[in-house]
Amino acid sequence: MQHDKIAVVDFGGQYAHLIATKVRRAHVLAEIRQPEDPDEAFAGFKGVILSGSPSLASFGEDADWNKGILDLDVPVLGFCFGHQEIAKHYGGTVVHGKQEWGHADLHILQDHPLFAGLDKVEQVWMSHFDSVTAVGPDFTELGWSVLGEGAEPHRYAAIGSDRLRRYGFQFHPEVDDTLHGDAMIANFARKICGCRPTWTMEKFVDEEVQRIRDRVGDRSVFLLASGGVDSTVAAKLFAEALGPGRLKLLHVDNGLMRKDESRAVCAMFADLGLGDDFHFVDASDAFLAALEDKIEPEAKRRAIGDTFIAVFEGEARRLGLQDHLLGQGTIYPDTIETGGTKRADTIKTHHNRVPIIEEMIAAGKVVEPLADLYKVEVRELGAKLGIPHEMIWRHPFPGPGLGVRLLCADGHVPDADLLARIAPAVDAIAAEAGLRAAPLPIRSVGVKADLRSYEHPVLFHGQADWATLKQLAGRVFKTVGGLNRALWNLTDTMPRSFLPLAAGMTRDRLELLRECDHIVMEALRRHGLYDQVWQCPTVLVPLEIDGQGRELCIVRPIRSERAMTATAAELPPALLADLRRDILALPGISGLTYDLTSKPPGTIEWE
Ligand code: XMP
Repeated sequence: MQHDKIAVVDFGGQYAHLIATKVRRAHVLAEIRQPEDPDEAFAGFKGVILSGSPSLASFGEDADWNKGILDLDVPVLGFCFGHQEIAKHYGGTVVHGKQEWGHADLHILQDHPLFAGLDKVEQVWMSHFDSVTAVGPDFTELGWSVLGEGAEPHRYAAIGSDRLRRYGFQFHPEVDDTLHGDAMIANFARKICGCRPTWTMEKFVDEEVQRIRDRVGDRSVFLLASGGVDSTVAAKLFAEALGPGRLKLLHVDNGLMRKDESRAVCAMFADLGLGDDFHFVDASDAFLAALEDKIEPEAKRRAIGDTFIAVFEGEARRLGLQDHLLGQGTIYPDTIETGGTKRADTIKTHHNRVPIIEEMIAAGKVVEPLADLYKVEVRELGAKLGIPHEMIWRHPFPGPGLGVRLLCADGHVPDADLLARIAPAVDAIAAEAGLRAAPLPIRSVGVKADLRSYEHPVLFHGQADWATLKQLAGRVFKTVGGLNRALWNLTDTMPRSFLPLAAGMTRDRLELLRECDHIVMEALRRHGLYDQVWQCPTVLVPLEIDGQGRELCIVRPIRSERAMTATAAELPPALLADLRRDILALPGISGLTYDLTSKPPGTIEWE
């Protein structure tokens, strides 16, 4: 069936994708479009939403987008930057200033279908430097906002022209901090654009099953089954579409799996009734050989991705499956964070977006039935397909596995001058709260204003409550350059020195990390917190702090909804005490720290 759909124009913020999911939650299909796309790219849409952007409308930044979008004969709604562009285009004024950041109260001035079912005052989320200070002749003010008691009211927080069918919100209805943002987006899609709510998971299954059948024809699909949620759900969907005998599954032990993971994965696929054409290969030697001399995160990711393909092709030959299509459980965020949209920087190359795979995609040899879905939607789909709850709610685990959680180094201090320069500044910030701090001579990947960063962590030491620690982390990122992570020391003393060790991806180090990770996972389960944290990477860093050549372990519990953004999760003292007892007892470990970093500026994985 033809679904009514909304185009979301991506001005560079990751928020565009959040908007798209929120439209889909209202059972209306949404697709992402680029600002420079021609008018024809918008054919068939019943409405358009312009996303926010890191650019400043007052300075005319990003002004070269296709304004023809505003001549389309469908309703258009803009958020933040999009709101300002709409105001400007129709004769309003946008100035640099009157910035707002945080929760605000939106005072709604009239009964309007956009706000149907809502209160006269609604909590909204603001994050902007520019502001609309006047609107053009056709427009009226639909609402104003105020950040807190005593603050000055901010006019034109919501504007609109029913004659032109153009609307703008200064706030971000797509983030959860705008309490009824979902309703506002649903109102726009359904009441203003007249979209029918036909896009449901049942429909998705029916249509995707048909699409798979059309794509695959009388061929078969060969799928790498990691045991993770995405590839498992994809396997079930392929099996549903293709029937018995046309889906071959391969589980590769790349040596970068969790403790006993491969054995558990084989058992799981048997339980799911997919064990008949399930193959297993231990390729850990090949992966470790490819990683032997790799230190830089992107180099490691590429080596892992390429080895997956080499192993896959070898196995396909061995099993006589060369003509099969490659099935992948790629989901939407995997493609965008690899730079899949024009304006998104490459933050990390996901293992299913390495060059060889890109070539296979271009040659039409890859089927990715989940490529338009976000994790929450994949889980909903998994439940529909009858996959048990514990499997669907397993924490996400990256394709390159422990390969991106075991940091490697050549023993040199990177950026020694920078570290020496910022050390007094970070210590001074910590001292204000009675703590100590030092920047560490290692680097990890992060994301700042949608761009990739490869910078240093800062380590805080001392007693403080959670709020203080989070606040310190936020302050240090704002005031000191060169940092993208904040750690809290979980041992009793502040280490006196930090020296990078020369350390590569060896079996021994992987074994040590596996043991640390196992201790963390078991502790989360024992304390009943496994389902409450989104994910909890455990990371091993070759950093000597006790003069005995032993390494530093980092625990990174996070809360998240879609992995596009995340915050550090607070763990209770009893659990931390267990981790201290069990991890510090491992020979080879000299220190234990807690990652306090949100995303941005850190990413969830360290590399
Ligand atoms: P980052 O570290 O980019 O992670 O904030 C976002 C989410 O993606 C997972 N991740 C991966 N998943 N292949 C995957 O299938 C990969 O190469 C990969 N890298 C990161 C990460 O665990 C988190 O859930």
